[in-house]
Amino acid sequence: GLKKKEVNVLCLGLDNSGKTTIINQLKPSNAQAQDIVPTIGFSIEKFKTSSLSFTVFDMSGQGRYRNLWEHYYKEGQAIIFVIDSGDKLRMVVAKEELDTLLNHPDIKHRRIPILFFANKMDLRDALSAVKVSQLLCLENIKDKPWHICASDAVKGEGLQEGVDWLQDQIR
Ligand code: GTP
Ligand code: MG
Repeated sequence: GLKKKEVNVLCLGLDNSGKTTIINQLKPSNAQAQDIVPTIGFSIEKFKTSSLSFTVFDMSGQGRYRNLWEHYYKEGQAIIFVIDSGDKLRMVVAKEELDTLLNHPDIKHRRIPILFFANKMDLRDALSAVKVSQLLCLENIKDKPWHICASDAVKGEGLQEGVDWLQDQIR
């Protein structure tokens, strides 16, 4: 059949935000892991959509591993940035990491699409996607296409809308 276009995606965000859970849900059910543990360093995963074949760099969000992220920026053609919508205390840390990413020389002047997941929307005290985007000042991102979706990665809700958007940005 027709070969799908290959795209490298960086999956970034603080530890415990749900990155690995999201990527796991996007894989075909026979390839999904049963239990998910905190990522050590990073893990390379693959999933496909109707037109694209994604290779995901699922990075650890733990503080001691965040210095690894930048080594993959050059290779990334899209970014998935995951936020725990229930973690109000660390929203400022998430913003710091996002700002560092956006100001990095390998990212700053590129029109790279960024998909944000305001994840854990199922938590009773979760912030809305609108509130998360305000706290992260996403409206200040003028030179890159971006989109934010509320998601519940455990149930798999909200993920398809995001991936559909990402696919449209790349075609
Ligand atoms: P690191 O690999 O340490 O950077 O973390 P991560 O961002 O990959 O998070 P991971 O996918 O390991 O999920 C962390 C915890 O959050 C797990 O216990 C998940 O089951 C849980 N989790 C992930 N997504 C959701 C969600 O949408 N809602 C709820 N309630 N829990 C979630
Ligand atoms: Mg992980």
